[in-house]
Order: sequence, then C-alpha cells, then structure tokens
Amino acid sequence: MSSHAAAADSVPVPSEAGARRRPQRHRRLLRHVLNLDDFERLVRRRLPRAVYGYVSGGAESGAAYRNNRDVFANWHLVTRILRDVSRRDQSVTLFGHRYASPFAIAPMGASAVVGYDADNRMAEAARDANIPFVLSANSITPMEEIGRTNPHSWFAAYQQPDARNIREMCERVAAAGLRVFVLTVDVPVGSNRENNIRSGYTMPLRLTPRLAMDGVLHPRWSAATAARTLLRRGIPSISNIEPRDHPTIFSRKLSAVTGHAAFSWQQAELIRRHWQGPFVLKGILSREDARIARDAGADGIVVSNHGGRQLDTAASPMEVLAGIKAEAGGMTVLADSGFRRGTDILKGLALGADAVLVGRPFLFAAALAGADGVAHAIRLLAREVDVDLALLGLTGLGEVSPDIMIARQPAGPPSQPPDGRG
Ligand SMILES: Cc1cc2nc3c(=O)[nH]c(=O)nc-3n(C[C@H](O)[C@H](O)[C@H](O)COP(=O)(O)O)c2cc1C
Repeated sequence: MSSHAAAADSVPVPSEAGARRRPQRHRRLLRHVLNLDDFERLVRRRLPRAVYGYVSGGAESGAAYRNNRDVFANWHLVTRILRDVSRRDQSVTLFGHRYASPFAIAPMGASAVVGYDADNRMAEAARDANIPFVLSANSITPMEEIGRTNPHSWFAAYQQPDARNIREMCERVAAAGLRVFVLTVDVPVGSNRENNIRSGYTMPLRLTPRLAMDGVLHPRWSAATAARTLLRRGIPSISNIEPRDHPTIFSRKLSAVTGHAAFSWQQAELIRRHWQGPFVLKGILSREDARIARDAGADGIVVSNHGGRQLDTAASPMEVLAGIKAEAGGMTVLADSGFRRGTDILKGLALGADAVLVGRPFLFAAALAGADGVAHAIRLLAREVDVDLALLGLTGLGEVSPDIMIARQPAGPPSQPPDGRG
C-alpha cells in the first residue's frame, strides 16, 4: 500500500507550504521557535496547569514517556559524502496519496480544550502543507466539519463494540469524506494518569474551585480558548463517538467513551468488512499482533505506545519496529511516540516505518499560534528532514536503509593503545 516516492513533481516544497497562502500573524512570536520542543516551553505559561498537564503528561511514573525520547540515542547516524545531494525529495505515498513529508499530525482528543478550534487549525495547516491530519473521535469538532476543512484527513475511532454502531460509524466517516479509518486499539481501559489527578484535570470536566482559579490565573487561555469556544460552539460535546448520543464534556457518560474493554479482533474484522477505504490499527507493539492485523486485512498499523500515556514502561516503538516490519507484509507501517527531530524520523524510517506521527508539539503549536503555529512546526520538521537527508548523503526516502546508522556501543573500559603509551 505504500512506497517512498522518487520524484519531486507536483509536491509542494514543504518549507514553503502553507506560508504562501496565510499571512503570518504570529511572525514575531514564532521567530523564537527554532524546534518542536520550543513550542512546549513557550506555551506552558499560557495554559492552565491542568490543561498543560493533560497534554504533556504520561501514565504513572512517566517511564515510557521518557524512554520514548531517550531511545533515539541508541542509534548513531553514519554519513556518506560527495554524492551530489543538490536535489532532495522527502515526499512519500501513503494509501495512494502522495504527501509532501514523511510525518503526520497524530490524533489528539480534547484538542479544542487546549487551543481554540485546534482540530480545524491543525487540519488546515496539514492541508496546506500536504501532510496527513488524523482527527480523534474524542474531539468536539464534528468530523463533517473537518472533512470540509481538509478532505484528506484521516479519522481515529474509539469505537463502540456493537455491530450497529460499527456499521453506522463506517457509513458516517465515509459520508464525511475522511479517507482513512484508524482504529485506536491500545485503550481497552483508561490508564492511570496520576499527573492529571495532581493537576486537577478530569474528563468529564469538573468545574472545581481549583480549576476555576487555574482559569483566573491564565486569563489569555480563559478568554481566547474557553470563553470563545463556549460563545461560538455552546457547551462542547464529543460528537464523533457514536451516531445518536453525543455526551457533553461535562457529562458523566463521557468516562465510558474511550475504553471499550470488550473490543476484540472480531469487531476489528467487522470494521474491515464495512469500511471500503484504507483501514489502520493504531497502538501495536507486538510482532504477533502485527501478523494478526495483516491476516485480518488491515492496510496499515501504527506502532505506538500512545506517547507513553497508556501502559507505563511499555516498549518504545523504536525498540520493536524492526521485528514488526518483518511481519508486516504489504501493510503500511507507521510509528509514533517521541518523534521530535528530523533525525528521529529518519531513524524510524531506517527501522522500517513508512512515515511517523507526531502528537504533542503540533497541539502546543496550535495553542500558541493557531494554524500559523502548526504551519511553522511542519516547516521546521520538514526542514530538519531535508537538511538531515543532505548531511547523510541521501536525496530521497527510498535511499534510507538500516545502513544509515549503527547501534550505540555499550560503554566498556577505556581502550588502551597497544604499546601502553597514553
Ligand atoms: C493530548 C493528547 C490526546 C490524545 N488523544 C488520542 C486519541 O484520542 N486517540 C488516539 O489514538 N491517540 C491519542 N493520543 C496519542 C497520540 O495519537 C499519539 O499516539 C502520541 O501523542 C504520540 O506521541 P508524541 O506526543 O510523543 O508525539 C493523544 C495524545 C495526546 C498528547
């Protein structure tokens, strides 16, 4: 289903995409953002503690979250020289569409709580830059609206397990015009997020005095995100969960929307039967599950530990990618969790991914500067991939192979010169 494209025709240059169409309202602010981590640093003070904690945190002790970043240091890149890298192309074909860069915006629930209309802002910037945007089912923006903003968007379902809901959801996603049905499979139950309890974030949202004070201390977010959302959209409801019943973000029914512990391969196969387009399972870490997904007719998988937000100490996708690729057959292999740099992406591709998803930084970018922020984030990452390709002596993603890197050598005793002199 996927291939790394070779030629650069008809693909916008990523570093210019988006900026052409949109006047940059936030230019001065974004001058200080030099890489994806800078968004978090700048936006942190602007967000209520509870909202910042919801996005930034991981499950339990945060070991999986930290390892998602640390793991990239286990591979060191090996450059090649004098190979004429004056023309470079980072485009990739996923599910029949040629995208400008090998990264996508990951599905993130409750995005509109973080930045005003963040789903639409991310979808818009992704459209202009020609990269995939994945809408979470756990969002307040109806998928039909996102389909109009960006007809190349994908949809990530938290699906009810009954057959009727499955059929109706497949029909709705198709009618909304979203191209790829992603089923999130690593949330059979909600995880243990102590950091949310500590910072006061709850879903359903409970307006405690502490949360109210958090809002008062962050007037910019209260006016530009909370009040504006309430004024323009009314009380937000999660409108993409099930066809008939859309709980508001204050509803007690909301705690049941994500985890569906009864979901099994049987229901995944039912989706496969009802959904005519590309079907992707997100949240796979085992080779065996990759093999079952392939046999069940999935077109793709996302190797992911949910950004360290589900099972703490879960393996990083980078630790299991090569083994999973060996079982993937013709499936498109995507990966996410911790990818922040062009070098991270190229390392993931070297282990067998066709492209990667990036989560938190794009949401922080939307919170900081709306679609301008997201477009800036896409440009920064695309530029890093472009420069890194050149420095590696490569002109396109088709040349990325395991040979571009070596595994870090375990630290041993310092080596002695043979003659003993120092
Ligand atoms: C705030 C937030 C909400 C998320 N909500 C969803 C979701 O609704 N569905 C889903 O499949 N993944 C969800 N994820 C996980 C992301 O899709 C992705 O796997 C993860 O963020 C990747 O890790 P990264 O943030 O380190 O790039 C969420 C992540 C964040 C940060």
